[in-house]
Amino acid sequence: MLGLTLGTGLLLISGPAAQAQTRREYLLTTDWRFSKGNQPDAANPKFNDARWQRVQVPHDWAIYGPFDGNNDLQTVQIEQNQEQQATQKSGRTGGLPFIGTGWYRRKLEVPGFGAGQRAVLVFDGAMSDAHVFINGKEVATWAYGYNSFSVDITEAIQPGKDNVLAVRLQNLPEQSRWYPGAGLYRNVHLIVTPEVHIPVWGTYLTTPEVTADYARVKLTTEVSVPAGRVIGREGAKISVRGSQDEHIGRGALQKALFLRLDTELLDASGRVVAHSSTPLQSGLPTCEQAFTIVQPQLWSPETPTLYTAVSRLYQQDAPADTTYRLVDEYKTPFGIRSFKFEAGKGFSLNGQPRKFKGVCNHHDLGPLGTAINVAALRRQITLLKDMGCDAIRTSHNMPAPELVQLCDEMGIMLMLESFDEWKTPKVKNGYNLLFDEWAEKDLVNLVRHYRNNPSVIMWSIGNEVPDQSVPGGGKLLKRLQDVVHREDPTRPVTMGMDRIDDALKNNFAAVLDIAGFNYKPHRYPEAQAKLPQGVLLGSETASTVSSRGVYKFPVEKAKQKKYPDNQSSSYDLEACVWSQTPDEEFVQQDDLPYVAGEFVWTGFDYLGEPTPYDEVWPSHSSYFGILDLAGLPKDRFYLYRAKWNPTAPTLHLLPHWTWPGREGQTTPVYAYTNYPSAELFVNGVSQGRQTKATSAQPQTRYRLMWNDVKYQPGSIKVVAYDAAGKAVAEEEVRTAGQPHHIRLVADRTALTADGQDLAYVTARVEDVQGNLCPDATNELQMEVKGAGRFRAVANGDATSLELFHQPHMHAFHGQLVATVQTTDKAGPLTLKVSGKGLKPATVQLQSAAVAAK
Ligand code: GAL
Repeated sequence: MLGLTLGTGLLLISGPAAQAQTRREYLLTTDWRFSKGNQPDAANPKFNDARWQRVQVPHDWAIYGPFDGNNDLQTVQIEQNQEQQATQKSGRTGGLPFIGTGWYRRKLEVPGFGAGQRAVLVFDGAMSDAHVFINGKEVATWAYGYNSFSVDITEAIQPGKDNVLAVRLQNLPEQSRWYPGAGLYRNVHLIVTPEVHIPVWGTYLTTPEVTADYARVKLTTEVSVPAGRVIGREGAKISVRGSQDEHIGRGALQKALFLRLDTELLDASGRVVAHSSTPLQSGLPTCEQAFTIVQPQLWSPETPTLYTAVSRLYQQDAPADTTYRLVDEYKTPFGIRSFKFEAGKGFSLNGQPRKFKGVCNHHDLGPLGTAINVAALRRQITLLKDMGCDAIRTSHNMPAPELVQLCDEMGIMLMLESFDEWKTPKVKNGYNLLFDEWAEKDLVNLVRHYRNNPSVIMWSIGNEVPDQSVPGGGKLLKRLQDVVHREDPTRPVTMGMDRIDDALKNNFAAVLDIAGFNYKPHRYPEAQAKLPQGVLLGSETASTVSSRGVYKFPVEKAKQKKYPDNQSSSYDLEACVWSQTPDEEFVQQDDLPYVAGEFVWTGFDYLGEPTPYDEVWPSHSSYFGILDLAGLPKDRFYLYRAKWNPTAPTLHLLPHWTWPGREGQTTPVYAYTNYPSAELFVNGVSQGRQTKATSAQPQTRYRLMWNDVKYQPGSIKVVAYDAAGKAVAEEEVRTAGQPHHIRLVADRTALTADGQDLAYVTARVEDVQGNLCPDATNELQMEVKGAGRFRAVANGDATSLELFHQPHMHAFHGQLVATVQTTDKAGPLTLKVSGKGLKPATVQLQSAAVAAK
């Protein structure tokens, strides 16, 4: 995806060879200096930053810790959690030091920049309250840390000189309900174009008609021209902004620009499947093109086929010229798909009814913090897709562009969300401070940025905003929804509502294109009856809590249950007062056709919001994840996989079977499986056969449960039967002995030497026979040699205060995950993991040179 690194510390992402005279794009990754704290003179180009820390961007300044319960200690009453009084919440935002001011500086060389060119910076996201300075002059501000923004810096830079880019960021206490991260945590791009060019997010591509035989494609392209110039042809009628229509006559020729836009649509193999050559005549700075693609390959999560529109903008220097000069080239990746939300029927994609099997995710990447990394995102999506997940809600804010691109490529549908707050606060210094001034601008950037991406199916304008029940809330909703419709009439607007009584009564919910409800499966029929849309969505569901490898006895359904060790049980029966077990939502999803699907809270554990231990330090990361903070699947992963992934067999047993001291005690055994029935054996003795109930209480419908099993060391084995009653699969879990050795399992062994790529290596503490030691807490050391470096480690324990960037950590329930990063040198690299009293293990990885473009 990325190209070569230049000596200037710029990473070139579109090569100069093919487009020497057109645009050049650079990623500003290296040569940054960073300092925490206010530095009154840091914008000044003469400021000496030699003592500042050298960092690479993306960078999260707070992830290196240390953890401390006093970091952003919040005394709050969380209304949406039905709390009756304010309490002190120590790990709400992760216990990490993200508050305060931080500065980033670097030299900004713009190779070959000169007259007749423009330079633009694009920030994919900067946390938060960004102030951008070039040579001491403030050129841009953007308050909301999650949004992308661009700024034209042409007038501020001096060609051929050393220019200085400085960025000041500031985070406030109580600005968030989860870990927001800190710093230039997403990419910064420099784009250099000729004066006449297609601006940032300057194309809008839609597919107004999609059938199996053909698809119509419409492309609107904006063109920027120098001030005082108009686009047109001699004799053509033009309208110049702010003046009356006129015709380009001889006098106006000096000012007129003669342009043509040639667009080719390429299929996934690069073959041209349609093209159009369009002179720009209207005087307006846009160009409309229409195409037909025959027998289109439709985009879906299962077939994520992408096309690319390559638009070339040509300029003729005088009307009599016959030659046109190429001035810009712009690529718009797109997909062809149609979808519908239909009253009484729910959602369909390309004519096929389906339900969103979705998860909500916050933006952090566990031990990497919020610093964006493509390999980390790709791993997350790979794991989610294996579970059968086909949709992500970017809760509760704008995503990283790399996530959207990967969802296009790998096949995940997206609900892109914007806000967790409107005017009424949930946290004192949250978006409520920005709403009036910024809401429209923020929505415009979100929609323009992503309205060409086929993975994006819905826009969400908010999550559980208290304005649902505040007079005037409906007007705010209407205003925001109208902005989104104006920018993109092709996708519906939704949001996550929790105040269902108010939202139904005051018509708030009735105004939305799609009413999304959080944690209200039992009330879907009532909402359906009261609302005009005829279709609704589980915009946020379940919020079951569990800790990987932890099982509590007796096994019982519970709400808000706390234990002295600050963990939650993996029997998947514990939720919050407002939330449910997965199965309760499954019932409604399966039985109610008008429900368009669900988005489970959450796919992955995240930093912050350690409910039900919000007040109990050292808990500082969530328990909601289907996968833990290290990305290891909890048992719940298999409950969802059994339901969501019909193409892969799932047969998973829980709990582990190493319970010294529990001999003879009731120790229920569950199987999460997509087989309809199974028989359980304890040490070869049958415990009977269980079959999934068709309509009973939710758990018996989706789980096979043997509730009266008495623990005896040895093994539990389950034999699964298919619908015809044939034994087709089995799974066994054995009692583990003493920790003996470490086993390493790498998610990938072939890496790219781009300085960014990652391998995730799971270290398992096993007994001599290779059984996982399910309670092992050994401290493990990591050492990387060769063409890579140790990057981070996590064990999924929400109470662990060990630092992610130190190459040692205790195993949590026998496992942890080490992350190894490549350098820009190709070659072999090894990770060795050792621990006292354990036979160490080494894994060899290979890092290959970045393929030349
Ligand atoms: C919801 C909220 C999420 C998260 C979740 C935990 O109310 O939208 O952001 O707080 O609860 O269950």
